[in-house]
Amino acid sequence: MGFADGDVAYVQWNAATIQRRVGDLGREIARDYVGRRPVIVSVLKGATPLIADLARAIDLPIELDFIAVSSFGPQTRDSGVVRLTKDLDRSIERRDVVLIEDVVDTGLTLAYVLRTLRTRRPASLVVGTLLDKRARRLVDAELKYVGFDAPDAFYVGYGLDFRQRYRNLPYIGVLRPDVVAR
Ligand code: IMP
Ligand code: MG
Repeated sequence: MGFADGDVAYVQWNAATIQRRVGDLGREIARDYVGRRPVIVSVLKGATPLIADLARAIDLPIELDFIAVSSFGPQTRDSGVVRLTKDLDRSIERRDVVLIEDVVDTGLTLAYVLRTLRTRRPASLVVGTLLDKRARRLVDAELKYVGFDAPDAFYVGYGLDFRQRYRNLPYIGVLRPDVVAR
């Protein structure tokens, strides 16, 4: 397991489980977009391990683009006040767009990002997320592709951070309460 062994209370999804599920999602997207060239937009930094694996599982001539958002939240859970800190590099006008998120929690970040992307007039726009924390939703989110339904907890690993750390874990786990408190 590695450097975070002492910090992680339990592993929720191990690396093999994640890889299998991400492969499934990639094949599902490839089936849905056969004959088309969707733009896969993902959100820095949390979705980077996911997009690296997912993109290679989509057997289509996709394009990749990235946005970055910063949320102003006092704690580990963000407040939903969001700002775009990096925009798309290319136009998505009249393109089929698949937005890929690492986790949809309250849904506030996603709602902001979708509002922004819709103003660019894509031909279509759907959302995929690795983790869906449905129990915590504050605003509606229509999710076309979901990796895992996630019980209410704060997860780290496979892109997800606590204070910018643990993103490089190959699995997704939950930190021990004393690690989160210090
Ligand atoms: P939202 O509440 O749906 O707006 O989610 C906002 C952001 O909070 C996500 O994009 C993540 O950056 C972060 N977040 C939500 N849940 C978790 C988690 O379990 N671990 C790490 N980051 C999280
Ligand atoms: Mg974060």
